[in-house]
Amino acid sequence: MMLEIKNLKVNFATPRGILQAVRGVSFNLSEGEFLGIVGESGSGKSVTAASIINLIPPNGLISGEVLMNGKKPFTMSGQELLSFRGSEIAIIFQEPGRSFDPIYNVRKTFYETFKAHNPAISDDESEILTVKLLKEVHLPHPEERLKNFPHQFSGGQLQRIMIALALASNPNLLIADEPTTALDVTIQAEIVGLLKELKRKRKLTVIFITHDIELVSRLADRIIVMYNGLIMEDNTSRNIINHPYHPYTMGLINSLPIFGNHYSTHKLISIPGSIPDPVADIQGCPFAPRCPLVKDDCFIKLPRLNREDGSYRCIIDGPKRETAHE
Ligand SMILES: Nc1ncnc2c1ncn2[C@@H]1O[C@H](COP(=O)(O)OP(=O)(O)OP(=O)(O)O)[C@@H](O)[C@H]1O
Ligand SMILES: [Mg+2]
Repeated sequence: MMLEIKNLKVNFATPRGILQAVRGVSFNLSEGEFLGIVGESGSGKSVTAASIINLIPPNGLISGEVLMNGKKPFTMSGQELLSFRGSEIAIIFQEPGRSFDPIYNVRKTFYETFKAHNPAISDDESEILTVKLLKEVHLPHPEERLKNFPHQFSGGQLQRIMIALALASNPNLLIADEPTTALDVTIQAEIVGLLKELKRKRKLTVIFITHDIELVSRLADRIIVMYNGLIMEDNTSRNIINHPYHPYTMGLINSLPIFGNHYSTHKLISIPGSIPDPVADIQGCPFAPRCPLVKDDCFIKLPRLNREDGSYRCIIDGPKRETAHE
């Protein structure tokens, strides 16, 4: 197993009290797997991802265990952690513009990254490797663009360069946190196509974070659905889309025009209500107040993540619920 996360919890001290951003998340990822993490805003997706590289701000308290290729980032010294972050894992973010230094051109940006791994690298060697990577992400005319600065590229081009830069350190794991949210739909589809291609050609292990369950189902082998700092469902993309067991997953799917009821015949059903206050102490299932299938018992105890038939966190048997939904 490449990555094992066990009972990850992250609390933040806030003026309103303790905010439980991640409330006991466990999952494994094997080499070459493409995992999607979906959920509404505030469900703890980014904090979970940042925890893997132990990148939590000072007001955060992290517990549990992360094991990445046998290494434990939670017990590393500052120096070990820097080298772990630089060599094992690369992260790409939503807005590529903000990840680049505006005063570095492309040549210099890549040179600095290569140099961090190989201090002896020459300008020429760096340039050859840079052009190769930019070709791999299909940036047109890469040789001519080395002198350009970030503001001279479109959002889609910058995201390609960002992906190339992530690959420059030859990471074992690529984490993409909403890499297409800021892009328009056509460009988004192109970036999705590129990630699919890289997954196939490089056998990349990827964690792809998004609000968009339909988008991620086209890429991921497996999807984890998060809500209120918890995993609500963890299953293959195919099962998640065709046989969602958790009412929250069903809600996400029903609010899509493609997988849910079609516009022309039925109205799209968006999930009523809003996410719970993350500072509140929640007893039962955090989705209960919004759940169409709620029972009294749902408010009493948090259901366990059942591990037998896919996994889902609900007191009603999944397959039975599917019939209730139809
Ligand atoms: N540094 C921080 N201090 C206090 N609270 C924080 C901090 N970082 C995150 N949080 C809170 O932790 C919770 C989970 O945040 P997180 O960023 O993981 O959500 P997310 O699922 O990535 O949402 P989005 O889809 O909007 O990116 C939220 O309630 C957020 O406000
Ligand atoms: Mg986020």
